[in-house]
Amino acid sequence: MNITAFNPLDPTILADPYPTYRWLQLHDPVHWGAPGDPNTDGCWYITRYADVVAALKEPRLGRELWRLLPEREPPTLSAVQKPIVAMSKQWMVLRDPPAHTRLRSLVQRVFTPRMIEQLTPRMEEIVQRILTNVAEQGHMELLADFALPLPVTIIAEMLGIPAEDQALFMPWSRALAAVIEFEQNEAVMAQGSRAVLELAAYLHEIIAERQRRPQDDLISALITLEDAGKRPSEEELIGTITQLLFGGNEPVVHLIGNGLLALLRHPQQLENLRTQPFLLDTAIDELMRYDSSVQMTFRYALEELTFGGKTLHQGDQIAIVMGAANRDPAQFAEPDQLDLARSPNRHMSLGVGIHYCIGGALAKAEAKAAFTGLLQQLPDLALVNPEQTWRKAVAVRGVEQLPVTWTLQA
Ligand code: HEM
Repeated sequence: MNITAFNPLDPTILADPYPTYRWLQLHDPVHWGAPGDPNTDGCWYITRYADVVAALKEPRLGRELWRLLPEREPPTLSAVQKPIVAMSKQWMVLRDPPAHTRLRSLVQRVFTPRMIEQLTPRMEEIVQRILTNVAEQGHMELLADFALPLPVTIIAEMLGIPAEDQALFMPWSRALAAVIEFEQNEAVMAQGSRAVLELAAYLHEIIAERQRRPQDDLISALITLEDAGKRPSEEELIGTITQLLFGGNEPVVHLIGNGLLALLRHPQQLENLRTQPFLLDTAIDELMRYDSSVQMTFRYALEELTFGGKTLHQGDQIAIVMGAANRDPAQFAEPDQLDLARSPNRHMSLGVGIHYCIGGALAKAEAKAAFTGLLQQLPDLALVNPEQTWRKAVAVRGVEQLPVTWTLQA
């Protein structure tokens, strides 16, 4: 193997990126590869565990390049780009301090571990309802029929979106997830842009309604928060709610999808999990490590710096490849083995540093409810297709579809 320009969208890499990550770790750990930003001619890919941690904690690698180099923004944003760019500037994950600090502290005050703990029975109820509905048919497409409705319903209920409106959110969720990917075309952008406008109009109404009649939900809590005597603006509220509503859905869907795929490909481990359900907590972390639904995240060099012996110039794009760090032999013994009892397991799938995933505990609780339900209710789950088609996507790794079958009980 000799990698001259790593391209995460290469079909061989999409099918199995791990041998290539290993080569990069050994031979070119800070590698200049295919661009993620159409305005540049390349992107740095950071693959070693220690470098990934250092990069995620490095304040000179940030998001707000548009503040330092406004000329890098397309001079005239097209009509379809405008709403997406405007809304994404309110997403904490795309901001640097001090804006990031303010937006994150708003959410942290209402999105608490206790709140998530209280939701566990509701997650189990949703899993049971979905599985009861499909049990008689003997087959389903795991992602759309099972894995997506769970996180979408939970986050919508937490925020206080009325049940009768929740069906609107699945297509919006998918349209927005497509927009944040590496390679977009006009049709994807137009669909995303429509979703943003519809969603903003919808949330405007809900916020006004909660201002008139506060309820016991996250939107009401966010509206009344004050930071140094200042309440969040409507733009900030809509951006933050949108990120919560949509940021976590696709990663959870593909945690369940990639996780089940890994288990079905390792029947002995699956059997261990069935017979020793106490393994579930370490198992969820191991499934997150083994084939993370979030493989990489991006930054820009906000100033010139030396990193891993390479000179990164201001404005260079950086891909921090957590999926590679998760398989680094310098950090994990036998990194390519799936070991559901692995402990400690300091995987990088939820990031580290100031942007560490705010929904990590929620995602793990959802995955736990999902796998418990699947293992108990559908004990002989099997894949319909031995080979899978992987999504042509960089940020969120997962298969296009995961049809599964099981034997009907007499
Ligand atoms: C398996 C599921 C999930 C994975 C693998 C995941 C992964 C990540 C990662 C890697 C980051 C850091 C990104 C960076 O440093 O650039 C992040 C941030 C974030 N995640 Fe998650 N996530 C998951 C689920 C969720 C859920 C369920 C929610 C909320 C409902 C959520 C909300 C967020 C938010 C708001 C941020 C931004 C935090 C900040 O910028 O300070 N995530 N996530």
